[in-house]
Amino acid sequence: MTTRHPPRRTTSIARTGRAPGAWPVLGHLPHLLRAPLRFLGSLPAHGELVEIRLGPRPAFVLCHPELARQVMSDGRAFDRVGPLYEGSRAALGNGLATCPHADHRRQRMLMQPAFRSEHLPGYADAMRREIGMALEHWRPGLVLDMVDEMFALTTTVAVRTLFGGGITDRDIAELRDSLDTFLKGVYLRALLPAVDALPTPGARRYTRGLAGWRTHVTRIVGERRADDGDGGDLLGRLIAARDEAGGALTERELHDQVAVLILAGAETTSSALAWALHLIAAHPEAEAALHAEVDAVLDGRVAGPDDLPRLEWTGRVIREVLRLYPPAWVLPRTSTREIEVAGRRLPAGSTLVFSPYILHRLPEFHPEPERFRPERDQSDGVAPAAWSRASFVPFGTGPHKCIGDTFALTEATLALASIAARWRLRPASGTPVRATPRSVLTPSALPMHLIRR
Ligand code: HEM
Repeated sequence: MTTRHPPRRTTSIARTGRAPGAWPVLGHLPHLLRAPLRFLGSLPAHGELVEIRLGPRPAFVLCHPELARQVMSDGRAFDRVGPLYEGSRAALGNGLATCPHADHRRQRMLMQPAFRSEHLPGYADAMRREIGMALEHWRPGLVLDMVDEMFALTTTVAVRTLFGGGITDRDIAELRDSLDTFLKGVYLRALLPAVDALPTPGARRYTRGLAGWRTHVTRIVGERRADDGDGGDLLGRLIAARDEAGGALTERELHDQVAVLILAGAETTSSALAWALHLIAAHPEAEAALHAEVDAVLDGRVAGPDDLPRLEWTGRVIREVLRLYPPAWVLPRTSTREIEVAGRRLPAGSTLVFSPYILHRLPEFHPEPERFRPERDQSDGVAPAAWSRASFVPFGTGPHKCIGDTFALTEATLALASIAARWRLRPASGTPVRATPRSVLTPSALPMHLIRR
């Protein structure tokens, strides 16, 4: 097999460019608030590094995988600092997904052991139990909103794998409600940090959600700490973790890590699952292949860790979903010194935007990028060399690459296979499904009929 190098963009496309359509004062903010995906999708036509305006400030969007790799692999030169991250840290604390480069290495080292592959079967067992319980209340003929269902499932899985069996259903429901309120508001606040200066009902709801979220996390961590012992859950492993100097995570750090883990893990995976159910219902051939696989492997039961190697097509479906609708659709970085990107010198303090959504829809890397084709990584000939060069990056790339990627792929594969083993889902509304860009790219709503297979 010949290995192809990733193609450069066609020569008619400039290396650097500027997005048209900026409004006076607001710049491109109206586009980013009203139709962000259309706007992002239009940018590669203007260059590989495209300047946009966030109000009066410029930001530079990375529209080529090589540039994305350059920026994302250098955490020192392109750090998670600046107003966007300060806002996230004020809201969420200084955990692994929000901390700047200076704190990152120690935190990553303390967190990594809890994600070792030997712990995965244990987490996958907890996933199997929770998936089984979540599906118990499904009945033929019911209409359920799959965005809500999948969010309930993945927050429960995140909380149970993190805190073990001791936590009550009521705790989980309360945690989920405050998390949901918070997540609904976070994208708007990232773009318009001043929005909470006005005493609107929305601002009050957001502040309440955030406060509720913090209180619940603090209480649950406190109770779990009082229990002592590893308990085979993630939190026990974090409590036991030591850095190079023998230091443990402080109380504050532990709290921030827990908050970040639930947050980073729950809505991302639930949105991937919701998109998977939507796409499968709309693509009969992919659905038939999925049913054939799960019938052979599961015969109607809930999937567990031992089934994973044989759920090959299910895994492909999930990866193709992550290509089309990468939950982490935009991630900013700030340059910490003057630096050259795509031949352009950018001053220190420049905002750079990494967007898996853009990279995953570049036709040079993903032929017919709009089409859902789970078989594509076998047959395109572009993979694997090009894909590995940051054109397929749902979990990011470089030192901050998702620590929970295998956890997430396992959970999504087990959940999709278990659902498909028993159920066929069909849209219950004629309204087209839209992508709602919150902090995560999520379907607006997904009411579906449950049909027993
Ligand atoms: C489909 C599901 C998921 C997607 C698409 C996803 C995506 C990502 C991406 C793109 C990053 C890089 C962020 C950056 O560069 O700033 C990231 C980081 C992270 N993710 Fe995930 N993630 C998923 C699931 C999870 C799960 C299940 C967990 C935990 C159980 C998790 C925990 C984290 C953490 C802690 C980080 C920060 C890593 C670091 O900065 O060292 N994620 N994720």
